[in-house]
Amino acid sequence: MNINIVNLADQMNYLDVISRWLWQEWGKESTFEYIKYAVQHHAQRDRIPMTFVALAEDEPIGTVSLWMNDLKCRQDLYPWLAGLYVVEEKRKMGIGKLLQAHAIAEARKLGYPYLYLITDHDGYYERLGWTFKELAPKADGEYTRVYSFDLLTASSQQQSRPFS
Ligand SMILES: CC(C)(COP(=O)(O)OP(=O)(O)OC[C@H]1O[C@@H](n2cnc3c(N)ncnc32)[C@H](O)[C@@H]1OP(=O)(O)O)[C@@H](O)C(=O)NCCC(=O)NCCS
Repeated sequence: MNINIVNLADQMNYLDVISRWLWQEWGKESTFEYIKYAVQHHAQRDRIPMTFVALAEDEPIGTVSLWMNDLKCRQDLYPWLAGLYVVEEKRKMGIGKLLQAHAIAEARKLGYPYLYLITDHDGYYERLGWTFKELAPKADGEYTRVYSFDLLTASSQQQSRPFS
């Protein structure tokens, strides 16, 4: 399968399909229009927020974004990898890893030293060099897992920056 990853800002024809994926996966308590409006404005070319689309030929099969914040109580940390999604029939083929690697490379190009993410997954992000930092409380009383990725050193396992 030949996979190409493009910036949504250059291919806005994929706005609807990506918005629908994100709405179905995470946004059911919001309207579709709200999610679409957000995705439309998360499509910058040279600054965050950015959204990327994985294409198999011209068929969209996954997406990932870079946001300035994905955890309201940690405004001190930025940027964040967010909205990683692969269509069900293309999962477990490495598309998720490709999308992560692309977002990581873009954040590095922009000169950020660290990238962050939140997730409920345990054991997935470690595979591409993310380091689990801590459980953070959310406003709804649940907890979420916070990870960081060192964009400056070759070995992302050796992070030295204190996380407080
Ligand atoms: C999570 C997701 C992006 C992974 O995409 P993918 O293209 O299947 O990922 P990859 O092919 O790169 O990696 C798949 C591997 O990760 C593993 N994996 C997937 N989800 C996992 C999880 N929750 N915990 C641990 N491992 C997981 C798979 O078992 C697979 O292992 P294998 O390579 O040994 O077969 C995809 O399942 C998805 O879109 N899920 C719904 C949205 C979501 O949860 N996004 C992440 C939000 S933080």
